[in-house]
Amino acid sequence: MKSNEQWTSKLGFILATAGSAIGLGAIWKFPNVVATSGGGAFFLVFMLFTFGIGLPLLLAEFVIGRSTGKEAVSAYKELAPNSKWHYVGYLGMILCSILLSFYSVVGGWIVLYTIRSFTGQLLSPGADYGQLFTDTVSNPWIAVLSQGLFMLITTMVVVKGVKGGIEKASRIMMPGLFILFVILIIRSLTLPGMAAGLEYFLKPDFSRLSSEAVLYALGQSFFCLSVGASCMVTYSSYLGKNEPLGKPALSVVSLNVLTSLMAGLAIFPALFALGMKPVEGPGLLFMTLPAMFEQLLYGEFFIAIFLVLFLFATLTSAFSLLEIVVAAYSKGDSNKRVKGSWWTGLGIFLLGVPSALSFSGHPLFIWGDKPIFDWADFAVSNVMLPIGVLLISLFVGYRFPKQRLEQEWAYVAPGWRMGMRLYVFMLRFVLPIIVLVVFVNGIL
Ligand code: PFF
Repeated sequence: MKSNEQWTSKLGFILATAGSAIGLGAIWKFPNVVATSGGGAFFLVFMLFTFGIGLPLLLAEFVIGRSTGKEAVSAYKELAPNSKWHYVGYLGMILCSILLSFYSVVGGWIVLYTIRSFTGQLLSPGADYGQLFTDTVSNPWIAVLSQGLFMLITTMVVVKGVKGGIEKASRIMMPGLFILFVILIIRSLTLPGMAAGLEYFLKPDFSRLSSEAVLYALGQSFFCLSVGASCMVTYSSYLGKNEPLGKPALSVVSLNVLTSLMAGLAIFPALFALGMKPVEGPGLLFMTLPAMFEQLLYGEFFIAIFLVLFLFATLTSAFSLLEIVVAAYSKGDSNKRVKGSWWTGLGIFLLGVPSALSFSGHPLFIWGDKPIFDWADFAVSNVMLPIGVLLISLFVGYRFPKQRLEQEWAYVAPGWRMGMRLYVFMLRFVLPIIVLVVFVNGIL
C-alpha cells in the first residue's frame, strides 16, 4: 500500500483496526491468562484497564497517525523534529517483530488444527485432546513447519498491501465468528456442571489477585487492543482526513472486550463441566475446543468453520504486526514493500524458531522455569507494551503540538472542548502513574 492510499470507508477502518485488535489476544491468550491469574477478579481489573487506559491510548495512537498521515517512525519525526521521540516508533518495530515471532507459532498450531478438521482427523470420541496437543507442539518439525506456513501466508498478503481484500473478507468473517461464539456459549452454558466454571470466571475474588496478576491484566489489555506498539499509528495514517476517530475507537474497544467475554463464557463453563482444570497453559484452548465441539450436533462441521474464522482473526492481527515494520521501511515505495516484506517475514520466522521449539522438551529452549516462548510473551506483554504505552501517553500529553491536537479533537469528541483538557491531564499524569505503579509492583 502506498502511503497516500486509504481505507475505503469509515467501516473499512473500523474493520481493519478491529481485525488487528481481535485475534489470539482475546480468544487464546485471555482464557489462558485468566486461568493463570486465578479467575474472577481478573476480568474486572482487565475491563478497568481496557476502558480506562487502553481506550485513551488507542485514541492517542489514532491522533498521531491521522494527523501526520505517516507510518509510526516518520510520524514521530514530523511531530517532534530534532528529538529522540522517533525511537518510540523503533521500539514499536522491535516489539511487533518479537510479538509476531511467537504469535506465528500459535498461528501455526491453528493452521494445523484447521487442516486436521477438514481431513476429519481432529474429532474422535473419547480421544485425549491434551495428548494430541502435546504431540503436535513437541514435534520440532511440525512446530517449525507450521510456524513457517503461517508466516508465509502473512507475508504474501502484506506484500500486496493490507487493504482491499481484507476489508471485504472481514465483513463476512467477523460476524461469522461472533455467531459461532454464540452457538458455543449456548452449548457451554447448557452442559451439566457448568455453574462452577461460570463462577470461576465471573465471580470476583480479590484475595486471589496478586500484584503480578494485576500486571498481567494490564499487559493483557494492551495486547488485546494492539496499543503501545505504535501499530495503530501506522493503521490510522491510512484514514481519510475528515473521518471521525472517537466512535471507531469505542467500537474497537467494545468489540474486543465482547470477544474476550465470549471466549471466557465459551471456555470456562465447558472446561469445568468436562472435568478439566483451568491450568493447562498455552494449550488450554486447543485442548478444550475439540472436547466442546464433540458435544455439538454436527461438531465436525462446526469446528472446521470455527477454526477457519479463528485463523482469519489471527491472520488479520499478524498482518498489522508485519505492516508496521514493512511500512517503516518502504514508506510508500511499492518495490521496497515487496522486498522489505519478504526479508522481514523471513527474519521474523527465524526469530520465532526458538519459540516454536520451546515445547520440544530440549533444555536449550527452557530458561529457568519457563520455555523461551513464555519469556518472549512475558517480555512483550508485560514489559515492552507498558513501556510503549507510557511513552506514547507522555508524548501526546507533553509534546504533541497543541493546535494540531485541537484539530484532531474535533473528530474525537466534537463540541466537548473541556474534554480535551481532561484528556491531556490524563495522558500527562493519570495514565503514566497507574502504568508505572502497576509495572513496578508487578515486576518486583
Ligand atoms: N491485538 C492482537 C491480538 O489480540 O491478537 C495482537 C497485537 C497486534 C498486539 C498488533 C499488538 C499489535 F501491535
